[in-house]
Amino acid sequence: MSEAPNLHVLDSPLSRQKLAVLRNEETGLPEFRRVMRELALLLVGEAATGLPTRPARIRTPLKETEVEKISAPVCLVPVLRAGLGMLDGALALLPTATVGFVGLQRDEETAEPVEYYVNLPRDLEEYFVIVLDPMLATGGSLSATLTKLKEHGATGISCLHVVAAVPGVKSVTSEHPDVQFYTAAVDPALDENSFIVPGLGDAGDRLYGTL
Ligand code: PRP
Repeated sequence: MSEAPNLHVLDSPLSRQKLAVLRNEETGLPEFRRVMRELALLLVGEAATGLPTRPARIRTPLKETEVEKISAPVCLVPVLRAGLGMLDGALALLPTATVGFVGLQRDEETAEPVEYYVNLPRDLEEYFVIVLDPMLATGGSLSATLTKLKEHGATGISCLHVVAAVPGVKSVTSEHPDVQFYTAAVDPALDENSFIVPGLGDAGDRLYGTL
């Protein structure tokens, strides 16, 4: 697929190895959770390149010097449930971040997202928003999330995914050219149930043992 300018594919030996663990059907619950957290760390590191910074003066033990500090508050928004599997890793790198929540469940018949919970900070326009959802399949859930965030005033938004499928990527990158999308993999297709192929299965079920 020809890549959209707002799509960033994290591609390193480290990310590929962690992705291999998550894709493997033999990976058990504790390892799946641990590696999902680690991959979230890598993705946050990549997405943080978009964070605004400001210069500051500090003293090292030897002399005064100029350093950089992140200048915008960050709001992490895990999309329930599977996005929660990335939250702990994201907070390890951004421990002062505010956390908002969007709860969406795909209808199993239609694959359309159904919203069941939203809790976002006031003044969302002041935050750099980072959406966490390991799976981007049809793009319906993410599109609904982005619409909700923009209704609440969000302007600077990045989205982090472990696996994104071509159909979903095409629709969200063109529908939201102002948003940056980071993923560890772009998979070619969806099956007849709108599952990502080859994918890694249902991330929510694998994280929470509800297979
Ligand atoms: C999965 C996944 C995404 C969504 C992706 O969640 O975590 O939120 O589906 O599919 P889409 O791009 O076609 O909308 P699911 O609805 O299975 O809920 P869960 O996280 O609670 O398991």
